[in-house]
Amino acid sequence: MERLMVQGGTRLEGRVAAGGSKNAVLPCMAAALLTDEPVVLHRVPDLRDVRTMAQILERLGVRCERDGSTLTLQCTDPSRSEAPYDLVSTMRASICVLGPLVAARGEARVSMPGGCVFGVRPVDQHLKGLNLLGAELRVDGGYLVSQVRRPLKGADMFLGTRFGSSVLATTNVVMGAVLARGLTCIENAAMEPEVSEACRLLNSMGAHISGVGGHKLLVEGVPRLHGAEHVMSGDRIEAATFLVGGAMTRGDVTVTGVDPTQLTVVLETLSEMGAAVDRGQDWLRVRADGPLRPVDITTMAYPGFPTDLQAQFMTALCVADGISVVTERIFPDRFMHVAELLRLGADIRKEGPQAIVKGVPRLSGAIVMASDLRASAALVLAGLLAEGETEIRRVYHIDRGYERIDERLAALGGRVRREAQPKVESTPLDW
Ligand code: UD1
Repeated sequence: MERLMVQGGTRLEGRVAAGGSKNAVLPCMAAALLTDEPVVLHRVPDLRDVRTMAQILERLGVRCERDGSTLTLQCTDPSRSEAPYDLVSTMRASICVLGPLVAARGEARVSMPGGCVFGVRPVDQHLKGLNLLGAELRVDGGYLVSQVRRPLKGADMFLGTRFGSSVLATTNVVMGAVLARGLTCIENAAMEPEVSEACRLLNSMGAHISGVGGHKLLVEGVPRLHGAEHVMSGDRIEAATFLVGGAMTRGDVTVTGVDPTQLTVVLETLSEMGAAVDRGQDWLRVRADGPLRPVDITTMAYPGFPTDLQAQFMTALCVADGISVVTERIFPDRFMHVAELLRLGADIRKEGPQAIVKGVPRLSGAIVMASDLRASAALVLAGLLAEGETEIRRVYHIDRGYERIDERLAALGGRVRREAQPKVESTPLDW
């Protein structure tokens, strides 16, 4: 077990390159199940989730070879269709193998997914969409199981939840539909850039998907797909994590290799908070030289404010000059970081899906526990702000989605180091 030790009180300053998008690359890797030709992905970040997905795909007969940041995936054994609990339970995106498996093999046995634990995260929309394509799924011993006659059949559907659309369900169902007979129309499709990126890869593999980037996707099934080569786009969530870190430490951070148009609402928010934002075609720079102003944030589906940045922005608001209200609309229970921020001296009151954050002059270092991927990033940023030393435990969460975050923050001037977590001495009880 490792921990991060963060010494607070430094400004982040300099340039950092965004890695390839984690949330885009995982479904793109699953798309390799849809063809027996090689799918070559460039700019693939070296993350724990990417490794987990590669392990799942290997179990499903896909050879995954990595050379630097290039990943070559080729299906060599289509007879295997079980994605086991031990791997799937660590990462929610693994459910993305379900659509390709039923579409290409007519058979799937996929463990119910795990991933970041912020409330119940149902999979009903994945099942609804695939069911409408003719892939009936049942739960058997914790596994989603399906055996269907291929090809699946195109269908009209509304993929909706009471919160809006679902990112992974949209991608999963699109991957189920690309080899179906006839036309599939998905209303209320998620518009997140990661969905569009998966659709673009599928189209370059020979799929016919139109309406990409919009709320209505049309998928005209084709008999087969072929291999393709694709360069992953920059990770907008990672990029914005560095930017808000720059703003809250009154620093000056430039992130390269990211598309500013994917972060419009986030950049607006940073400006409202008083940071200076500059942008180019594929870079962003954020500077701040005084206390940030409070803002109210409500997370929403794209192009709204991303839930994956809620914790990082809440951390910045902990030291803003006034009161902010943070409302979580996507995952109403996604507030595990609040208890940890309180340990650092933040003033936050939680009321249902809202947190009322009253800015305090300073945070002070303490031991905190990483609870999920983005919350852990927020705690590292909080450590940079806090006076003294902050120890962040369970950092394996952060390694799921941020590559070498300690080294990259250190390169920006942050005093962050990784070390082994010493064993806790325990006094044996004479019971
Ligand atoms: C993806 C992202 C995650 C991000 C989330 C929202 C990946 C790997 N993960 O997760 O980082 O926080 O989008 O932007 O891309 N829902 C249902 N039924 C379903 C599916 C979802 O009710 O079958 C609900 C969820 O509980 C949630 C909402 O829909 O309230 C949106 O979730 P969804 O977009 O599906 O999140 P993921 O795709 O799992």
